[in-house]
Amino acid sequence: MPWWYAVSEDKHEIQNPTSVEKIRLLGERLALGPDSHVLDMASGRGGPAILLAGDFGCRITCVEQAEEFLTVAEQHARSAGLSQLIEFVHSDGHRFALTPNGYDAALCLGASFIWGGLSGTLAALRPAVRPGGFVAVGEPYWRKWPLPGNFQQEEGEDFVGLAETVECFEDAGLEVVTLIASSEDDWDRYESLHWLAVEEWLQDHPHDPDAVTFRERSDHFRRRYLRWQRDLLGWGIFVGRKR
Ligand SMILES: C[S@@+](CC[C@H](N)C(=O)[O-])C[C@H]1O[C@@H](n2cnc3c(N)ncnc32)[C@H](O)[C@@H]1O
Repeated sequence: MPWWYAVSEDKHEIQNPTSVEKIRLLGERLALGPDSHVLDMASGRGGPAILLAGDFGCRITCVEQAEEFLTVAEQHARSAGLSQLIEFVHSDGHRFALTPNGYDAALCLGASFIWGGLSGTLAALRPAVRPGGFVAVGEPYWRKWPLPGNFQQEEGEDFVGLAETVECFEDAGLEVVTLIASSEDDWDRYESLHWLAVEEWLQDHPHDPDAVTFRERSDHFRRRYLRWQRDLLGWGIFVGRKR
């Protein structure tokens, strides 16, 4: 049975509404270099890790639950000649044993649900970075807060406003020192790449038992994005420094 995310993210190098330039900026703000060791939780198809290791020469430990994505990431790292710098671990992030003070930076770009949300993610990752190190989380937030009265939140959309998101870091003992917010272009590129990937898959698999469900899901997500999310939903990489 095809897995929805393997189909809909088949064309994404970076599986979030951000860009190559913004991941590079993240590497600069984390002051990465050949002596740095980075943890990338839920590393997906390896886009961010490959960029950071390639540009900054840092070591990265990638932890990813989906074998489909991990395999792609390993292939891409090999093709880029970066296998020596990037270690891949096939694991549920929740179960991965974190070494206290073990990393210069811990990333979790688009997967805070692993620890039940942002606060849980910060509580889990903060102990893993050395004092003065960074926790960088890519997280959605509502650009209008409180939300308009006629907007109905769906499951998994229990985000808060921008200021409240930053407060979560402060409550966790992390001083927010960088915010890299997504632009409308970042969102459109990310969202519409799903549409293209699903459309091509449907063309190639018209009789697949999942074809009807995948079309309905894709249509629903596209409508929701165009009707509400493009206006209301923000996404940013928030970098907190461990005090
Ligand atoms: C939105 S994608 C982000 C991927 C990558 N961080 C990026 O920015 O390109 C979320 C990733 O979380 C992974 N994931 C989901 N649950 C996980 C878990 N419990 N442990 C580790 N990875 C998980 C998914 O397989 C997916 O690769």
